[in-house]
Amino acid sequence: TSKMPPITEENLQELLLTLPSEKNIDGTNSLYLYQGAWIPGFNLRGVDSFQRRFIAQDTDIIVASMPKSGTTWLKALAFSVAERHIYGPRESPLLSTSPHELVRFFETDLYSKDQPPDLEQLPPPRIFGCHSHYANLPESIRDSKCKVVYICRNPLDQIVSFFQFAHKFKLDDGTSLLSLDECYENICRGVQSQGPFWDNVLGYWKASLERPDKVLFLKYEELKEDIVLNLKKLAEFLGLPFTDKEEEEGVIEEISRLCSFDNLRNLEVNKNGVRPLSGAPNSAFFRKGEVGDWANYLSPSMAEKFFNIVEEKLAGSGLSF
Ligand code: A3P
Repeated sequence: TSKMPPITEENLQELLLTLPSEKNIDGTNSLYLYQGAWIPGFNLRGVDSFQRRFIAQDTDIIVASMPKSGTTWLKALAFSVAERHIYGPRESPLLSTSPHELVRFFETDLYSKDQPPDLEQLPPPRIFGCHSHYANLPESIRDSKCKVVYICRNPLDQIVSFFQFAHKFKLDDGTSLLSLDECYENICRGVQSQGPFWDNVLGYWKASLERPDKVLFLKYEELKEDIVLNLKKLAEFLGLPFTDKEEEEGVIEEISRLCSFDNLRNLEVNKNGVRPLSGAPNSAFFRKGEVGDWANYLSPSMAEKFFNIVEEKLAGSGLSF
């Protein structure tokens, strides 16, 4: 990147002509293959600006994921763990603010404007959200002591979730959306926002093996299965383990309840609020929150074919789905 000029409004169209492109789920905004990742065209400047400008601090916490993998949940959990000495669960800002407002995305939010906000002034720990591949993170994230928490999810649940999300967004303009079959054909080729899936997960997976103090790799399904265990893991990883006293007082259970799907979804802000930049309804981030919903939309043979591809791509990594 350093040798290339920054992406500007002026040179963006020219750049787009040189990049491989495919249809995105919403059918209108194309995806472009940039630095090995499929990025929606409108998001390329944000991706580039984030890479060039963000300077990590050792105390930062980065919540990383592919879209629709449980990011909202992990943002709420990370915020609650890291800020628990400031706000108890009954006075948490999460009760009146979207997790995406408390933990803002780099690429689609903070760096999507010409002038990024001044982040230096924020009190530590700063917590951010990010969808970029590990290899494309700003060097200062990889080189500093800041912590990266990654969440992934069964990729078929992820694509079904994305498909439903796109539909919720585009209620009046539903005709231009890709069909679920088209989405499926695309993911078999690795084509989806922030994909290929296997490259996105493998970058963080390998980093978590090489530097377990730097990158924590979580799975949505495991959080569903045992949230207490995973909250302990998260707190320890962040250098903020729960004390015996906190455990006795039920702090872990309280955080898990606060951040649970049913609790967050039913809060006024998440029922009727909208995202300031995109105007997307906050409610679109809460749908079913279940494991295995893909089976209601995709056939067993489609799943088998896809998982064979994934297995081949992940072979030898120790990671499986
Ligand atoms: P479904 O569409 O399968 O319901 P992201 O936060 O990365 O955009 O992912 C959204 C998915 O996570 C949606 O999945 C959403 O319902 C689910 N989700 C949101 N909040 C959750 C929570 N607190 N607990 C569990 N799942 C949650």
